[in-house]
Amino acid sequence: MAKYRIAWLPGDGVGVDVMNAARKVLDAVKLDAEYLHGDIGCEFWCKEGNPLPERTVKVLNESDVALFGTITSPSKEEAAKELAPELQGKGLIYSSPIVTMRQSFDLYACVRPCRSFAKNPLNCRENIDITVFRETTEGLYSGIEFCPIPEDVRVVIEKHNTKMTRFNKFPAGEVALSARIMTQTGCERIIRKAFEFAKANNKPSVTLVEKSNMLRETGGLMLRTMKRIATEYPDISWNEANIDALCMWLLKNPERYHVLVAENMFGDIISDLCAQLVGGLGFACSGNIGDRYAIFEPTHGPALKYAGQNKVNPLATILAAMMMIDWLGEKEPARRIHAAVAVVVAEAKARTSDMGGSTTTSDMADAVVEALKRV
Ligand SMILES: NC(=O)c1ccc[n+]([C@@H]2O[C@H](COP(=O)([O-])OP(=O)(O)OC[C@H]3O[C@@H](n4cnc5c(N)ncnc54)[C@H](O)[C@@H]3O)[C@@H](O)[C@H]2O)c1
Repeated sequence: MAKYRIAWLPGDGVGVDVMNAARKVLDAVKLDAEYLHGDIGCEFWCKEGNPLPERTVKVLNESDVALFGTITSPSKEEAAKELAPELQGKGLIYSSPIVTMRQSFDLYACVRPCRSFAKNPLNCRENIDITVFRETTEGLYSGIEFCPIPEDVRVVIEKHNTKMTRFNKFPAGEVALSARIMTQTGCERIIRKAFEFAKANNKPSVTLVEKSNMLRETGGLMLRTMKRIATEYPDISWNEANIDALCMWLLKNPERYHVLVAENMFGDIISDLCAQLVGGLGFACSGNIGDRYAIFEPTHGPALKYAGQNKVNPLATILAAMMMIDWLGEKEPARRIHAAVAVVVAEAKARTSDMGGSTTTSDMADAVVEALKRV
């Protein structure tokens, strides 16, 4: 029996190409794993009315970890139109599979390492090594939203906060409300995860990304929690940066930051900014990590115009596979994959289209496999 059971979810578009590339690399480091295919994505929404069929949830439940490719996330209206005729009008609602998986498996930490590889032509700057910890189960993306705001909800808010009256002059259908709900438990576990990572990896600082001077209640809760937890890690310095100011500072002095921790939406914004500093979509990998299960993925979407063309950069998915085996405890093979990617980028012989070259997806994977023999 294989040591690991890995749920294998290629999804839509270029997901299949980049996952095949990652598989070559995992096979080259001789990972002792059984790969369990899972159906996921638009095809299953259109045909079955569910982009994450129950049989795939079963595969996830029976595995140790998952590697996920890419999926299209259509709007509510687009999704309704794409349904097979026999499924139309049945009230089916498209839910993003990645959001569903994060919630069902309590994968509260979206971890995004953003390290610049030397001689990557896409680097904004050399010597960047930032890891972002984004909370993914709470905050402004909790899905607690109204438009129009039900009258009883409006009345209750007005009773407790007179600022609400300012919006009474607008017609009901022209006012929308999204709630930013955060809990002490949610703040605590993401902040602790960031500090534990800093401690294990000798990172000198953790920066809280917030806006607690404006969002006094939710941001205040995050800041108070940060101050309390930071006392448990006296060797690691910490500070709070406002999201807006931090966007400027990250462009100016990215090398000053090591670990960033943020709630859901601010973490989403800052992780894309950090990813672009070190090469963009072709390099951006992430892990959705809980206490017992994790799903790793490239952060790019299905790039449908390149689907099946063996053209996009697979390094994001190869690096996601590296994160996955590191999480499983396979530290040496993970180190080798990272080192092999560094060699390939530095040697500048293989360059996919995003890097200004014409290396194919599979040839880039072969280059990493070849470099593995030298690291
Ligand atoms: N995790 C996911 O599966 C995921 C992530 C982002 C977006 N999406 C969804 O995907 C759909 C399309 O989104 P989009 O067009 O904004 O983003 P996208 O990532 O699919 O593609 C945007 C462009 O980025 C470039 N690109 C993407 N991946 C690349 C790679 N590996 N190498 C080289 N170039 C690459 C391509 O030029 C591509 O056309 C939307 O429905 C969106 O919601 C899904």
